[in-house]
Amino acid sequence: MKKLFFAVMAVVIVAGTVFAGAGSDNKGGGSGGTFVGIAMPETHVLRWIKDGASLKKFAEAKGFRAQDQYANADQNLQNTQIQNFLTQGAKAIIIGCVNDGVAAAVADAARDKVTVIAYDRIIPNSADYDYYITFNNFKVGQFQGQGIERGLDLKSASAAAPKYITLFAGSPTDGNAFFFFDGAMSVLNPYIESGALIVVGPYPKTSKDTANFQRIATENWQAPVAKTRMENLLNGDAKDVTLDAVLAPNDTLARAIIEACKADAKYASKLPIVTGQDAEAASTASIKNGEQYMTVFKDTTKLAEAAIALAEAAVKGATPNIPGAVLASSIGLESIGDTGRKIVRAYLLDPVIIYRENWKDPVNAGFYTQEEIDQNNLK
Ligand code: BGC
Repeated sequence: MKKLFFAVMAVVIVAGTVFAGAGSDNKGGGSGGTFVGIAMPETHVLRWIKDGASLKKFAEAKGFRAQDQYANADQNLQNTQIQNFLTQGAKAIIIGCVNDGVAAAVADAARDKVTVIAYDRIIPNSADYDYYITFNNFKVGQFQGQGIERGLDLKSASAAAPKYITLFAGSPTDGNAFFFFDGAMSVLNPYIESGALIVVGPYPKTSKDTANFQRIATENWQAPVAKTRMENLLNGDAKDVTLDAVLAPNDTLARAIIEACKADAKYASKLPIVTGQDAEAASTASIKNGEQYMTVFKDTTKLAEAAIALAEAAVKGATPNIPGAVLASSIGLESIGDTGRKIVRAYLLDPVIIYRENWKDPVNAGFYTQEEIDQNNLK
């Protein structure tokens, strides 16, 4: 009898999970309150799990019903998840998009008069939404460039004793990847032009050099892709030099690149300067231990809070007032809000640069606990 009970329960649980869709949380589906759908792109980069949970928490604190879904970097799945939100009568949908294919689902939302907020990543090729909230992504890239400038002391370097760098970029399907790269190159290009810094491997001067940008890009921000590319570089273009730095666009990829370097005897005692972004606990631990050189802390708890404030104002038809955010157009960065079809109102939060000296900043901001860093130190 007991066995039968557990068998029935297992079927009920599995059916519930399948019904709710991959990675979903169907607790928010109850009655009452305006419904807000939260569509996050992936879970292999950890921040999105936290983003989804924070968005749900802040939405519920405002009395909304909310549901978070994760698309596993699969655009068809994300569109299905958005369609499900529409079927459930969502009034607002917050989307961290997988790629521009999501524009079709956004068009359906617009037809239903549902507010769409592009979250962290712009939704390209769409004229069907008005709001975007993110960080100053150009500045994120500038911080990465400045990290390399500082780590290699480029201000005192010269062509007589050049430093060697190799370049990585994020996913070419993610508009942010272009801003990160262009921000970094705005700092590094003058040193490359003077000969003080030599690029090993492809050198797109800006993201507009599409052919070379594709060569250094990392499809869907997948760590194994970056690791394999780094291994190939170490055995190919970088075989006869010692790399002083690697421009890595985020922490997940930075750690994959560091892993590849560690397997090469040449870097056993001294790793290149490796940049990052997201202040993931594992990378903060790595910075504390002197391996990864820097990261960029984007307080995504604040981003989620601001996105819900924006959704609330938009649903009520009120003028959004988002504390801690500036309008991109007010600081000459309207291109951040350019979907290719229209310029949306883009609100920007400020990132913070993290080096070994201030690795504790995210802990002090309550982003995570000291224990989370310590656990990563043991790994
Ligand atoms: C986000 C980064 C993240 C990357 C990979 C970007 O759009 O801004 O924080 O590391 O996606 O998920």
